[in-house]
Amino acid sequence: MLLRPPSERDVNRLAAIIAEPAVSRWWGEHDADWVRRELVECEPGWVIVVDDAVAGWLQYTEETDSQYRHVGLDIFLTTALHGRGVAREAIALAIRHFIEQGHHRFTIDPAAENQRAIRAYAALGFKPVGVMRRYERGPDGSWHDGLLMDLLADEFSQRSRGAPTGSAPNDQRHRRENHHSPSDERRGDRLR
Ligand SMILES: CC(C)(COP(=O)(O)OP(=O)(O)OC[C@H]1O[C@@H](n2cnc3c(N)ncnc32)[C@H](O)[C@@H]1OP(=O)(O)O)[C@@H](O)C(=O)NCCC(=O)NCCS
Repeated sequence: MLLRPPSERDVNRLAAIIAEPAVSRWWGEHDADWVRRELVECEPGWVIVVDDAVAGWLQYTEETDSQYRHVGLDIFLTTALHGRGVAREAIALAIRHFIEQGHHRFTIDPAAENQRAIRAYAALGFKPVGVMRRYERGPDGSWHDGLLMDLLADEFSQRSRGAPTGSAPNDQRHRRENHHSPSDERRGDRLR
């Protein structure tokens, strides 16, 4: 598996994945225009690639204020790959990358009922901080609770199934700012 920056050619596949009932249940219902506008063109993140096929999306929000430095993460995977440790492997790659960049704290906020997500994140070392009541609106229009979880770098568990070691540090924001940088080419745009 690898993480790589998104491009226009990923829009339809990501839109098809997000439309799968097991994914839209937690991410909401969105069309290809939303995926293009809100994910590919806007949200910093990577396409998750498994066996050369687009398998999902991992996004991050990097807080760079030195007083509150941390990274927020969010993810979806195609249903056929749920329960195989792919999320753990993808998130572990991103966390190792951001630790190398000097980050010490990570957050993630699954729906309080999303037990599969909570178990996957707990296996990486994320701990529940607390329930955020009526935090997000579901596809049915009703508000539901979210569980804020956080992870400190020294609690990060490497027991993600099959996670490879090492990474090639880079990110989408860096790529945009330094598009023609030789050092960028040397590092590559991907995390493996
Ligand atoms: C949530 C998601 C990212 C997790 O990825 P994943 O690759 O399936 O997760 P993993 O295989 O690493 O771990 C899943 C864990 O949940 C457990 N699990 C599987 N189905 C479950 C269920 N119905 N209820 C509770 N736990 C379940 C698995 O046993 C595993 O835990 P274990 O290894 O301790 O036994 C993925 O399922 C997904 O994309 N879901 C749809 C979108 C979504 O919910 N995104 C998260 C938003 S915060």
